[in-house]
Amino acid sequence: MSVLPKNPLIQDIPKPTPELSEAPWSSLGKPARELSVGSVKLDGRVFLAPMAGYTDTAFRRLARRHGAAMVVTEMVSSRALFGSGVEKSHELMEFTEPERPVGVQLFGGDPKIMGDAAKKVMDEVHPDIIDINFGCPVGKILKCDAGASVLKEPQRAGWIVEAMVKATEGKVPITVKTRAGYDAMDNAVFELLEAVENAGASALAIHARTRNQMFEGKANWDIITQIKKKARIPIIGNGDVKTAEDAYNLFRQTNCDGIMIGRGSMGSPWIFEEINHYLETGKPMKSPSLKFRVGVALEQLKCSIEVKGERMGLLEMRKHLTHYLKGFEGAKDIRGSLLTSQDSVWVLKTLEDLYNALPEEDPALPVA
Ligand SMILES: Cc1cc2nc3c(=O)[nH]c(=O)nc-3n(C[C@H](O)[C@H](O)[C@H](O)COP(=O)(O)O)c2cc1C
Repeated sequence: MSVLPKNPLIQDIPKPTPELSEAPWSSLGKPARELSVGSVKLDGRVFLAPMAGYTDTAFRRLARRHGAAMVVTEMVSSRALFGSGVEKSHELMEFTEPERPVGVQLFGGDPKIMGDAAKKVMDEVHPDIIDINFGCPVGKILKCDAGASVLKEPQRAGWIVEAMVKATEGKVPITVKTRAGYDAMDNAVFELLEAVENAGASALAIHARTRNQMFEGKANWDIITQIKKKARIPIIGNGDVKTAEDAYNLFRQTNCDGIMIGRGSMGSPWIFEEINHYLETGKPMKSPSLKFRVGVALEQLKCSIEVKGERMGLLEMRKHLTHYLKGFEGAKDIRGSLLTSQDSVWVLKTLEDLYNALPEEDPALPVA
């Protein structure tokens, strides 16, 4: 099968990002690269959001290299760390030095177990931060009183943070990630903020949807604005940032201290660099060429295979490849095979051939 792209163009061309008259950081009144989360000094304000099944070590390495100021692991069960799931949990928590600063995210509903888990994680893997998942909307997580379930009982969030701060003796910042509410944007998230601040949390990230919204509808950034007005700790805004312009708008509208990007980074881990550039200069960064995109995908696949082995490494990479190849007309004929093949050698070779066949610069688009 030919791997030469017939038409090396991305068809769904995003609308151009407007140039701003001044560098946004100066107009937003914030220094670009000085955000501290507890004792950890971060070199930027744009982070990779934790995403189970996506933000593994291969993807986190790319996100850090392309400008994410911090990355977080997939969520790890606090209970599993003391039971039969310990091996799988360790796989989820393992990270490499270039990923630092890195947070390990824990979920659980029992303050004692969460405290013990935090101590174990601190002693065994030494992350820069330990984050708590108080936002997961999925039934099986809610059933064990974890994730967004604490929004029904915000005081419990405080007890959990308190147990974790105590167990780790304040040696590692404990941060929290939650949602705008359980079934409504009511007072729960404000109560949660107060409870976790009093218990010693070092930052709070908010995905601006309720648990009932899951991932549907538009994120309501107003809740981030309101929380930021009340908070004493850094507030990280999250939800629906897909472009550098969205990132600017989220900072401007809410005055939040940092932002987290989840789905907007899938198949484009360079989004952090694009946002940093835009916020620093007010000018959009040149879109990466298809050759660059395929090169990054290839690098991720190689790393995924190296870490997880040929079978799992390829299997886990499929969902990422879908994103990397989205809208890529030239790869239309081979996309199906690339996404279903079980032969990692063939997939690597096909992507390499595609990479070699692509020009350094994309050809100019025909003028309509
Ligand atoms: C596939 C997927 C997995 C996710 N896993 C986690 C997780 O493990 N922990 C967590 O706190 N949030 C998780 N989230 C939520 C994201 O971190 C983020 O809050 C949400 O996607 C909204 O941000 P976005 O619009 O930038 O994607 C996940 C989201 C997705 C799409």
